[in-house]
Amino acid sequence: MENINISTLQNWKNEKIKFAAITAYDFSFAKLFAKQGIPVILVGDSLGMTIQGHNSTIPVTIQNIEYHTKAVRKGAPHIFLISDLPFMSYCQINQALKNTAKIIQSGANMIKIEGGKNLINIIKELSNQSILICGHIGLTPQYTNYLSGYKIQGKTEKDANKIVEEALSLEDAGVKMLVLECIPAKLSRIITQRLSIPVIGIGAGRYTDGQILVMQDLLGITEGKNLKFVKNFLFYNGGSIQNAIKAYINEVKQGIFPSDKHSF
Ligand code: KIV
Repeated sequence: MENINISTLQNWKNEKIKFAAITAYDFSFAKLFAKQGIPVILVGDSLGMTIQGHNSTIPVTIQNIEYHTKAVRKGAPHIFLISDLPFMSYCQINQALKNTAKIIQSGANMIKIEGGKNLINIIKELSNQSILICGHIGLTPQYTNYLSGYKIQGKTEKDANKIVEEALSLEDAGVKMLVLECIPAKLSRIITQRLSIPVIGIGAGRYTDGQILVMQDLLGITEGKNLKFVKNFLFYNGGSIQNAIKAYINEVKQGIFPSDKHSF
């Protein structure tokens, strides 16, 4: 089996081939997802909620991400693996370098960090060390206290312009991929068109190059939340996890998911 790497994803962007990504946190699910053809897995700090039962991503530590990254990599040796740097683990350059080394040594191909212009120096420094970085803007769950909760971002013209500027400056600083979370579809369309790197959306509509979902949301086992941008693929595919993942991959590739019903 061929390894998926950053050039594969960049070629897909250039050729307008859409791709699906998913979170995973352990060996078994990573193996199952890879077997169904998922090319990109994220060890997200969403594990604070999905695995640890907290009500935010804030308690997640670098040791937690190392542990889950190692497990996922064992299950899925060929996929492109992105792992989050957790809350406050990349504020200072030396701290960011040290923590990135731990995550890459655990098996990740790329690290993901949340934020905009405040990260420019850190991104430049990590890029100088040939580290692949994924940015994450729009709704940034590590900063929900500052954002006053989990809310759609970029609804006003001023906020939308700020998000476009952040996206452009992150690309300029050296990120090789970008996640857009919970922003209006027409805003993510502008960003996806203006950026030359692959852009992945969650709650950001149909126009991004790739989509990502949290595995528990896609399998319909996240209780108590009615997330507009999520589809329960398990329910619509006869209760088979394998078929749910295949359907997710195909619907993203064909531009069926997300539909307008799943977009802001
Ligand atoms: O932590 C996570 O799972 C994420 C996704 C929501 C993109 O960052």
